[in-house]
Amino acid sequence: MKIVVIGGTGLIGSKLVKKLREHGHEAVGASPNTGVNSVTGEGLADALKGASVVVDVTNSPSWEDAAVLKFFETSTRNLLANEGAAGVGHHVALSVVGTERLLESGFFRAKLAQENLIKASSIPYSIIRATQFFEFVNKIADLSAEGNKVRLPPVLFQPMAADDVAGAIGRIATNAPVNGTVEIGGPEQFRLDELARRDLAARKDPREVISDPNARYYGIQVSERTLVPNDGARLGETRFEDWLKQSTKQAAKSALQRA
Ligand SMILES: NC(=O)c1ccc[n+]([C@@H]2O[C@H](COP(=O)([O-])OP(=O)(O)OC[C@H]3O[C@@H](n4cnc5c(N)ncnc54)[C@H](OP(=O)(O)O)[C@@H]3O)[C@@H](O)[C@H]2O)c1
Repeated sequence: MKIVVIGGTGLIGSKLVKKLREHGHEAVGASPNTGVNSVTGEGLADALKGASVVVDVTNSPSWEDAAVLKFFETSTRNLLANEGAAGVGHHVALSVVGTERLLESGFFRAKLAQENLIKASSIPYSIIRATQFFEFVNKIADLSAEGNKVRLPPVLFQPMAADDVAGAIGRIATNAPVNGTVEIGGPEQFRLDELARRDLAARKDPREVISDPNARYYGIQVSERTLVPNDGARLGETRFEDWLKQSTKQAAKSALQRA
């Protein structure tokens, strides 16, 4: 089965292409770096020739409100139109758990617009909403840092490993379209502030995490369950502590190689 992964050079896309190939599929990773641009349309028609499934794991280079909306709307419209012309039978897109609760942010308004375009099109689809990736926890701390202090709300948080995200997408992409939304999440629930503290400590980052119920997540006011999936979400297997050990070991090795 030919599966085209748009955003195939990104964090999730590159893992997904590798997993699909290991399972014997013809997986094509497509992105501006490989001459395929879903915003301008460059290279799309050629890339989609003979494809059964298209997986969209792109992300916008800019998260500024107008730019990110334009990115996801234009890219999704182009993909769906080219898929129609190429006879693609399954459009799979990666979105975010709780998107409709996070609309204070332009990024999530753009993700909702992307989902709505997919639902309104005639192409059979599966929308996968994932919780935050483990790999993103450090970035959340950066985004919430003021000098040496990181202020985060103690809300529930159920992140998952990017590897597990790619595995779940691969399984859904190679099955029949669900014509609906599937939620995926991590195997454990934490408090956001506590997890960021553990991540920073393991990386010997001296910044202090302050638990503050009024602190914002990525500029958005969140409450206890804003970020966690509903019952019935499909859960990944990788535990945060195991991933963190691997991740810090890898970071130390890379630092040694650079020295
Ligand atoms: N971060 C989280 O915790 C989280 C949680 C749930 C869902 N998600 C969603 O997961 C998706 C993928 O995230 P990621 O972290 O894997 O992204 P990423 O590593 O930033 O990769 C983005 C990919 O999009 C490609 N791209 C950018 N502009 C493009 C264009 N015009 N045409 C085609 N491809 C283009 C990039 O290609 P180049 O390399 O060529 O630039 C790259 O392959 C996003 O939609 C995000 O909303 C993220």
